[in-house]
Amino acid sequence: MDDIQEYQSRHAESKKLYERACKVAVDGAQAPGKVDGPYPIYTAKAQGSHLWDVDGNEYVDYILGLGPMLLGHGHPAVTQAIQSQMSYVLNSTPTGVEVELAERLMGHIPCAEKIRYTASGTEANMLAVRLARSFTGRDILLRVTDDYVGWADSLMPGLHIPAHQPGAGRAWGLGGVPKTSQEQTHWFDFNDTEGFKSLVSSIGGDRIAAVIMEPAYRASMAPQPGFLETIRSVTKDIGAMLIFDEVVTGFRYGMQGGQGYFNVIPDLASFGKAISGGIPLGILAGRKDVMERMSTQVPPEERVYHSGTWPGMPLASVAAMAVLDVLEQPGTFPQLFQMGERLRTEIQDVVNEHEVPMRAFGVGPVLEIAFTDEPVVSPKQNLLKVEPQIIKSIWMAMAMQGVLTVGKGYIPAIRCFVSLAHTDEDIKKAVDSMDKAIKKVFGR
Ligand SMILES: Cc1ncc(COP(=O)(O)O)c(C=O)c1O
Repeated sequence: MDDIQEYQSRHAESKKLYERACKVAVDGAQAPGKVDGPYPIYTAKAQGSHLWDVDGNEYVDYILGLGPMLLGHGHPAVTQAIQSQMSYVLNSTPTGVEVELAERLMGHIPCAEKIRYTASGTEANMLAVRLARSFTGRDILLRVTDDYVGWADSLMPGLHIPAHQPGAGRAWGLGGVPKTSQEQTHWFDFNDTEGFKSLVSSIGGDRIAAVIMEPAYRASMAPQPGFLETIRSVTKDIGAMLIFDEVVTGFRYGMQGGQGYFNVIPDLASFGKAISGGIPLGILAGRKDVMERMSTQVPPEERVYHSGTWPGMPLASVAAMAVLDVLEQPGTFPQLFQMGERLRTEIQDVVNEHEVPMRAFGVGPVLEIAFTDEPVVSPKQNLLKVEPQIIKSIWMAMAMQGVLTVGKGYIPAIRCFVSLAHTDEDIKKAVDSMDKAIKKVFGR
């Protein structure tokens, strides 16, 4: 039986669901990043670091819903907070919990002088870009090549088909994005300080509204010394806004996010995913003078408009406060970092034993496995040499042994998110499954 046949035989109920999904949803999916393998594994239930699919298979889950479940699935503090809030109010006039959450967030996020809620990370980034344009009176946006920061018009240019997919290197996702948005967004490579500086001078600093970027590439590749600091000082010099997208790094690298971890403070920062334990919530935090472009004190024609039915949703606010309660405990981040480091080290030991060209890298509880034998310091240098079949086969071999990773989507690497619920046993299972996957895929 080959891999695909084995996958199908173990996932018959998922296959049925996928066939139904294909009749009602484009490509059978609600988000392309959620489709891995020949077809998705549909979850029936999840608890802690484990999930069970509709065929009854059990997995150690390193996907964590693409990031939000940092405490693990079904954490009692989050569940109780949601259940108790449900008996009071779901949506109404403003509630005290949205105020209390903002006060607590401001106590943690270094750049936060004001807080605005949205329903997703993309929306928080859209708002950040609009505020930056209004505040500076400029249009041009700079972003990092190939690092996803949401699906809005101004955020899509600069993404290319990844190295493991057909058509690698061609622009991706520009359908329906107006030409003006395409002309106004420019990109530079992560950890290429000189490339960034020459892009700024070729465009002209006085035309640049903002730089939007994750403080670590894909929340995995740390900035080289001086890279973020240069971007901070150049943006200050030219009067442009620095926006950190902390949708993944936020509350995963520590209570102060990537800005605290790397000690570079942006003007604005967006958050999402991990902060609210699985309930939709985006957050924009930032400088008061910039955020106040939304104020009714600003003349109407100049005012930045942001609104929505969901911002301030009590369920999201209480879930986020329950997450904060847990994360604020001493020992939480040392545990997350220690488990992430253990996973990286032990996977790398297995890779070294087999002498295959792979590198485990990452920061804290985020791990990626790149298909290179060099230290991973630059996406351009180290993440483009990819054997597409190897990624698919490793992902599949690990999945068949009950270990789910983010594998085949838009990232030319295997990616794992570690949660507070992952145990030593879970780490061992991932390492053993990598050992067997390498033996199978490389025949060693
Ligand atoms: C770094 C980063 N920014 C923004 C987003 C968009 O967030 P959302 O999916 O909540 O719109 C994502 C989603 O994966 C992300 O990884």
